[in-house]
This record gives sequence, structure tokens and C-alpha cells, in this order.
Amino acid sequence: MLQKKVHIMTYGCQMNVSDSEKISTALRGAGYESSPTIDGADMVILNTCSIRAKAEEKIYGILFTMKGRLKKNPGLLIGVGGCVAQQEGERLLKKVPHLNFVFGTHNLHLLPEMVRQAEAGKRVAETSFIDDESRLDLFPMQSEGSGVTRFVTIMQGCDNFCSYCIVPYVRGREVSRRFSELLDDIRSAADSGVREVTLLGQNVNSYGSKGDDGSGFASLIRDVAEIDGIERIRFMTSHPKDISAPLIECYAEVRKLCSHIHLPVQSGSDRVLQMMNRGYTRAGYLEKVARLRAARPDILITSDIIVGFPGETEEEFSDSLSLIEEVGYVDTFSFIYSPRPETKAAALHDSIESREKHERLNRLLALQKSLTARIQSSMVGERLEILVEGKGRDDGQIFGRSSGSRIVNLQGSLDLVGTLQKPLIVKAMQNCLLGELT
Ligand code: 5AD
Ligand code: SF4
Repeated sequence: MLQKKVHIMTYGCQMNVSDSEKISTALRGAGYESSPTIDGADMVILNTCSIRAKAEEKIYGILFTMKGRLKKNPGLLIGVGGCVAQQEGERLLKKVPHLNFVFGTHNLHLLPEMVRQAEAGKRVAETSFIDDESRLDLFPMQSEGSGVTRFVTIMQGCDNFCSYCIVPYVRGREVSRRFSELLDDIRSAADSGVREVTLLGQNVNSYGSKGDDGSGFASLIRDVAEIDGIERIRFMTSHPKDISAPLIECYAEVRKLCSHIHLPVQSGSDRVLQMMNRGYTRAGYLEKVARLRAARPDILITSDIIVGFPGETEEEFSDSLSLIEEVGYVDTFSFIYSPRPETKAAALHDSIESREKHERLNRLLALQKSLTARIQSSMVGERLEILVEGKGRDDGQIFGRSSGSRIVNLQGSLDLVGTLQKPLIVKAMQNCLLGELT
């Protein structure tokens, strides 16, 4: 039988990238193979993000352009999954008449049946939540793919309810994968050539806090480090309030744990942090940073910052700028606050003008740019250990990431992919470093 083709379009975070792999596996069971292009596809799936309004608007824009495709290919089936699907459910079918099916973040296992119904001409939406561990049994969690680095989902959902954030509403409650299952998964990844794993979850620090064996995140890191073949361990994303003493000890003792942490601070002002329901103060955050640095002096820290939270004063914004300098982030991802449905902050009066928010964002970006340049320049002349991942930016180049998660491009053979190398850093660019193997 001729295989039908599905083109999956993924937006937003790494969790969605990982979900798209599972969608692809589920659809294979329904007779569809993944296609890298939309041309010639029988079905297209948008795996969506709704973290900020802009991400959501983009999805509607893309769905609108699909109308043109349908003129050329009237049999094309269109499905929407991910966070916009979870948020909108049936409403999405009403808003977009040419849409065939909508599936929520907990319903990937229902996809083959939904596709069968869509093929039979029905329009279906399924967005029910499964908020206990049984949701993990509904779908093979084994990650797929090739290459030397692998993202491994260790937990899903979030119970933190930061006042601005839609994630707890569209991803549901925290659920951790079983310890032994995860280790088996990572062992088989190592056997297939994977050298670096990134343990993935909305809030990895609380891994196992509800699990049946109660094993925590720090013990997971230690056990992963015992797996032969795995040379490097990373994780994403961790909540500052949950950075524990055992995790900090891992930075002191576990050599395979990379010298990087993404530790989103969101704001440098105590009043704003409290309004955000973050559960820590500026001083508490800085204290954790100091302890991490004491355990691992060369650790590089990155962060997320929200600009223009409702009521943020100029002085409170300056607190974020001064925190960026005080921590010395090597990079930050900064976002203008975007009110999201259902969240607490959406009810707050937002008095800051859009022009002002953009002006603040630009000031923050300029500060970060100079800080990144300063930190990266200080690496010139050093030898950084990189894991070679693949083809680099220019012809003849390969690239890898340093333990601190800096991209290094260098001249070299693709035979080196999967190996650890120690190039000399000869130049710092804005987004990467240039290295030489000598
Ligand atoms: N508005 C702006 N930024 C947001 N983020 C999450 N929700 C919002 C929002 N409503 C940012 C946070 C988070 C990152 C993934 O997205 O900084 O850490
Ligand atoms: Fe959102 Fe806060 Fe959970 Fe992160 S910790 S996903 S910002 S609610």
C-alpha cells in the first residue's frame, strides 16, 4: 500500500519538538510517513505554542494561508495540536472552517483514531486532560532520532502557576516519568551513539517529587552519569526556587554535568517577583547563584526575563538591568509581557504603554549584547572542550558546543562528529566562537 505523507510543523519550545517526534510515531500507526515538505503531503499538522499572544497569532496566520493550499489540493487534511489546540479546543474548529481536527497536549495517543474519523469526513476535537501518571503509559516515551545529542523528556506539566504563565493550563499537572524507564531509554540512546542528553521538563527540579519511588532530580543526574557512553548531561528548565542542595552538590561532584544552567529569573525586582508568584526574592536568587558558582566556578548562566509586567515601574525595570549585570548572564531571552487567557496577571491593569515596553526591551537587549560580547571575548585564547555535533556555519566547518553551551565553529572533518575535542578559541562573534584544532 502506498504510504500517505504527513508534514508536521513545530512551533515554540523544545517540549513541542519532542512531542512532534511522538506525533510522527503515532501517525505511522495510521499509515502516514513524515515528509520534510508540505508539497505532496496528504496531511499537515501544526504543533502549536501559546506562551505569548504573538506565537498564537502566528498560528492563525499560517492556518489562513492553508486556504490557498486547499485550492490546489482539496483532499489535504489539516490538524492542530499543542498548546493553542489545548487552549481553544472546539472553538478552533468553529474559528477555522477548513480545519479537520484538533488534539490537546494529553491526547497524542488518540491521534490514529482521530485521523481515521477526519479521513471519513468528520471534524473532531479532543482536549481532555489526564492528570495522573497513567498519562505516561498511554504513549511510548522512548525518544527517537539520530545524532550525538538527545532531548529526553523526564517530566511534563507544571504546578507552579506563575501569574503570567499559561503553561499549567495547557500542559496540566506535573507528572514524572519512571526512574528505571528513563535510565533504560538513555542506555539505549547511548548504545545508538548518543553522547549528550538534555533532561527536559517544564520544571525539572521537581522531577520525582510525586513519583512512586520518590527519587529526586539529583539522583537521576548521578545515575545518568553512570551510563557508559554518555559524556555530558544538561537539563532544562529549572525553577530557581527549587534549586536544591543535592543538585548544587552534583555541580561540584558530577564531572559529566555540563557547566551551564538556564535559570530563568523573570525580574530583578522583589515586588514584581511577588506579583509574578515566583516564590523567591532577588537576594534568594543571588544566593543560589553564588552557591552554584562556589560548586562549579566556570558555570555559565542564562536566563529568561519579562519586560513590562503590569505595573512594572522604571525603577523596577532598572532592577532587572542591574541583576543582569550582577549575575553576569552569558545570554538572556527577553520577552515583552503578554497577557494570556485564564492567568491571574491577565486581570491586572496594564498601564505601561507599548512604546515604553519596547524601549525597555531594547535597553535590555543592548546591555545583554555587550555582556555576552565581554564574556565570550574573555574565552579567546582558552581551550574549550566541545562535543562535535555536525556541519558548521561555513563550508568545511564543523560545530560543537562547549560545556558552558557556547557554540564553537571550526575547520574540521565530519569524521569528528560524536567526539570530544579541545579547540583553541581564536575569535568571539556575537552568537558563536571560532575555534582551531591545533
Ligand atoms: N508574557 C511574556 N513572556 C512570557 N513567558 C511566559 N509567559 C509569558 C507571558 N505571558 C516567558 C517566560 C518564560 C519563557 C519560556 O517565556 O520568561 O520563562
Ligand atoms: Fe510557567 Fe512558571 Fe511553570 Fe515556568 S514554572 S512553566 S513560567 S508556570
